[in-house]
Amino acid sequence: MIKANGSFQLLKQNYLFATIAEKVSEFQAKYPEKDVIKLGIGDVTRPLSPTIYQAMQKALLEMTDAKTFQGYPPSGGFDFLKAAIKKSYAELNVSLEESEIFVSDGAKSDCANFTDIFGSGNILAITDPVYPVYFDSNILAGHGGKQEAGGEFSKIRLMPCVAENDFVPEIPKRKVDIIYLCSPNNPTGKAFTYDQLKVWVDYALKNEALILFDGAYEAYITEDDKPRSIYEIEGAKGCAVEFRSFSKNAGFTGVRCAYTVVPKGIRGRIKEGGTVSLNKMWARRHATKFNGVTYVIQRGAEACFSPEGQSEIQGHIDYYMANAKAIKACFKDMGYDVYGGTNSPYVWLKTPNSMDSWGFFDHLLNDFSIVGTPGSGFGSCGEGYFRLTGFGTKEKTAEAIARIKK
Ligand code: MLT
Repeated sequence: MIKANGSFQLLKQNYLFATIAEKVSEFQAKYPEKDVIKLGIGDVTRPLSPTIYQAMQKALLEMTDAKTFQGYPPSGGFDFLKAAIKKSYAELNVSLEESEIFVSDGAKSDCANFTDIFGSGNILAITDPVYPVYFDSNILAGHGGKQEAGGEFSKIRLMPCVAENDFVPEIPKRKVDIIYLCSPNNPTGKAFTYDQLKVWVDYALKNEALILFDGAYEAYITEDDKPRSIYEIEGAKGCAVEFRSFSKNAGFTGVRCAYTVVPKGIRGRIKEGGTVSLNKMWARRHATKFNGVTYVIQRGAEACFSPEGQSEIQGHIDYYMANAKAIKACFKDMGYDVYGGTNSPYVWLKTPNSMDSWGFFDHLLNDFSIVGTPGSGFGSCGEGYFRLTGFGTKEKTAEAIARIKK
C-alpha cells in the first residue's frame, strides 16, 4: 500500500465553503419551497462586461484560424498581458519587470502553491481570522510543525485580528519568517493604511522575513490612505510577494485568471548552503506544474486594463459596494457592531447576544433562508463574528435586507 500524506488528518474534515454548501443543500432538500439567498461565499454575480467578452470572442475566433491559432501558452503568461499588468503597476509608481509577473489560474492556487518553494523550519505568522487557504496549504505541505495539545501548531503564530485591536495584527513577539497579510482583508474587510503596512515591511526587511501579500480585493479600496499594492511601500520589493486576481473585480471566478508578482531581489537560504532567488524558483515551479492560462482568457484579462474595461469593472465594483453598504446599514440600524463594507465587499458583524457564529448561521438560514459565512470558519478569533458578502445581485440583497428588517 502507498504511504499517504498524513497531514490531511490535521485539517478540518471539509473546506469551509464545502461545509456551508453541504448544509445549504440539506436545507434546500428539506424545504424546496424556500427561496434561499446566498450571501456566503464571495462569488460574483455580474456577468462579463462587453469589452472583456468581446476581446475573448475575438481571441476565440483567432483560435479557429491556422495563421493565428495558439497552442500551449507560456507558463508564466503572454507578454501582452504582462505588459498591461506592468503598466497598471506603473500607475501606482511601482516599477516591475515583466519577468517578475506570473499569470496563473487563480490567487487561491498561487497562495497555496507558493508553499512548494518553502523549505522546512520556517516560522509562519498568519492572521486569525484568515482566508483558510493560507493555513490549510501549509499544514498539507507539512510546514505547520507539531500539533500541540491545544490544537495549535508549533511553527504557526496566529495573530488575532479582533474589534479590540481594530482588526490590525500586531507584530509577533518572537521572530517569524513568513507572514501572510491580506488587505483589504478577507474576512474582516479591514484595509491597512500606508503606515500600518510600512510597519510590516520594515519588520520583514529587518528580520529577513517574507511577506505574502494577498491583494485580491484591492479594487475595492475607496480611501486614499490605503495602499492598493504592497509595493507602494518603500522597500517592499525586497521582502514581499503579491497575489492579485481578476476574479473579484472583473467577474472571473468562473473564468479563472490571476497573477503573482515575485520580485527578483528576494532570496531564500537553502540548507545546502547559499541563497536562491525566489523568482527563479517560482518560475521553475510554474513551468514544471502549470501549463498556463488559455490565450482566450488572457486576452479577456488584457481587456480589463483598457479604459473601457476599467470603466465597466468600476461599474461592477460600485454595484457590489452598494450592496455591501446596504447590508452594513441594515445591521447597524438594528444596533449590531458592523465592520468592513467601506474598502471591501465583505461586511463583518458581531453576532448578537453572544450567539456563536454557527448558531447565527443556523438562525439566518432557518428563519430567513439567508446564507452567510460563520466567522469561526476563518479561525478561532472569528468566533462570535459573521461575514456577509456584497457579491449577490442587487435584487436578492434587497430581498435579504427586507426579510431581516421584517
Ligand atoms: C471567499 O468567500 O472567501 C472567497 O470567495 C473564497 C475564494 O476567493 O476562494
